[in-house]
Amino acid sequence: MCGIIGYTGPRPAASVLIDGLKRLEYRGYDSAGLAVVAGGRIQQAKAVGKVKALEEAVAGSGALGSLVGCGIAHTRWATHGVPSEVNAHPHFDESGNFAIVHNGIVENYQELRRHLEARGCHFRSQTDSEVLAHLIAGAYEGDLLSATAAALEQVSGTYGLAVVSRHHPGMLVVARKGSPIVIGLGKNENFVASDIAPLLPYTREVIYLNDGDIAAVTAETIDLRNIKNVPVEREVAKIDWDAGVAEKGNFPHFMLKEIFEQPETIENAIRGRIDHEMGTALLNGMNLTARELAQITRIVIAGCGSSMHAGLVGEYYFEDIAGISTSVEQAAEFRYRNPIIEPNTLVIPISQSGETADTIAAVREAAAKGALITALCNVVGSTIAREAGRGIYLHAGPEISVASTKAFTSQVVVLLLYALLLGRNRRLNRADGNELACEIEAVPGLIRQVLKQAPKIREIAQRYAHCDDFFYIGRGCLYPTALEGALKLKEISYIHAEGYHAAELKHGPISLLDERHPVMALANDIPGKDKIIGNIQECRARKSPVVAVITEGDDSVRAFTDDVIEIPACSRFIAPLPTTVALQLFAYYIAVERGCEIDQPRNLAKSVTVE
Ligand code: F6R
Repeated sequence: MCGIIGYTGPRPAASVLIDGLKRLEYRGYDSAGLAVVAGGRIQQAKAVGKVKALEEAVAGSGALGSLVGCGIAHTRWATHGVPSEVNAHPHFDESGNFAIVHNGIVENYQELRRHLEARGCHFRSQTDSEVLAHLIAGAYEGDLLSATAAALEQVSGTYGLAVVSRHHPGMLVVARKGSPIVIGLGKNENFVASDIAPLLPYTREVIYLNDGDIAAVTAETIDLRNIKNVPVEREVAKIDWDAGVAEKGNFPHFMLKEIFEQPETIENAIRGRIDHEMGTALLNGMNLTARELAQITRIVIAGCGSSMHAGLVGEYYFEDIAGISTSVEQAAEFRYRNPIIEPNTLVIPISQSGETADTIAAVREAAAKGALITALCNVVGSTIAREAGRGIYLHAGPEISVASTKAFTSQVVVLLLYALLLGRNRRLNRADGNELACEIEAVPGLIRQVLKQAPKIREIAQRYAHCDDFFYIGRGCLYPTALEGALKLKEISYIHAEGYHAAELKHGPISLLDERHPVMALANDIPGKDKIIGNIQECRARKSPVVAVITEGDDSVRAFTDDVIEIPACSRFIAPLPTTVALQLFAYYIAVERGCEIDQPRNLAKSVTVE
């Protein structure tokens, strides 16, 4: 949540900062601001709304757009204080000589603010972040890094922080605790940011700060220390994403581009991970021997939102394929519930961003209880990937649209590979393992077939775009698929949508059904279909219009529905994947029809770095 970019070097700073903010906008988009140190002063611009508004403010502000110097910028997702120009970052100290941008939360800000006000500081904003600017100014004795470190010693909470000062032209000070900061290494220029997306056009070499790290960055130097002012060394990591994958190309929205990328992203998730000779999966990043795998007696999956839904699909895989008792926990619940972790419990945190606060906390709770942890993340070098130590990357490339699409399907595929590995490690024979491996390899082709139906799905979506409510029902692996389909619809189209197990309808929600409450029934030709047909009839009897996802050529459901979306035939383990893609398209086209802000839905942000 919220994005930070900083630049020091010979280019006009504001244009690098605005370009960076556009690439970060998916992290927050209610207001934005920047500050540039040049010619012995700090100049700033702020605007409410999208980065475009800031760009216009900079263009209208005379010289600011062309100043060469160093600068920091921020795009905000409001936590403390409404979206407004005064609450937009950067924030300044009393003298205006220090400016900061901050991600995270200063938990003791009210107490700090009271002390600072008693010492004569005047606050302009309602944010927690502003205290940081005043604290740094108060601690300043000629060294910006030391002043920042001294200020941060007084703070409890989390921060990804970037600081500039009029007294140190050309210098950025950054610090990290619980909210990521990465330094991008250029030639005679350097960058800092809250994630790598804004760095991709400029460099592939980055340094990820660890919690507790603080650094002074100039165009030529990087002075990296821990909070106790002791120099530390961090590896230079190479990024293999290219800038093009973070651009829309010819698609009207990132979401549609990412939906259409899924055949390739799934190929990337599978590549090199199938061993046909042994009929198993190869997941080297886990670094576990067959013996260690065989000792696992229980699996606990933790995640939030779509990642938790992927985990719920995984639960069916691990139990059915590998015979290992599995449960899925909302990560926030896991961290606070004092979960039971036995010696042979495997914990699998799932997170696209690798930065979700509750999932990070779940990893720490699991680690503290001695669990074996293997994480599923998309963002390389993210906090969860690094703290878990072992894991499997999704290789889905940057996911920019706030609603998760390609990351979700990659998570499901990787969970299936994981279940194949564990299944072969215990009860699955080589031939059965190989059969499943071949099914997994066929997934990209199945998804291509679903994508070809986009125009037809669009037509159906147009007929339902006026609705205010929607139910999604499914059974087996298609139950969590229904939850995910409903989540997609509600987050991008603002239609109230509920996912239910089809059997659960009768236990309450059916009282709502009438002609104004359509039902999306996942009625693929897999075990459970007959029961779903019964459930569809119950809905029809209450006059609910029914759209069904069915298996191509299966006429047994068609007669009971108003509209059908056909999915190529596949097994029950594979069915969630093409079905999800159809539901993503359905939600997308409804949102288009309703004129919604698809890539950046209201009130949301891409990575939820606060509790
Ligand atoms: C929904 C969505 C969110 C995320 C959730 C977890 O489309 O994107 O529900 O899935 O915020 O995020 P990660 O996977 O980054 O931990």
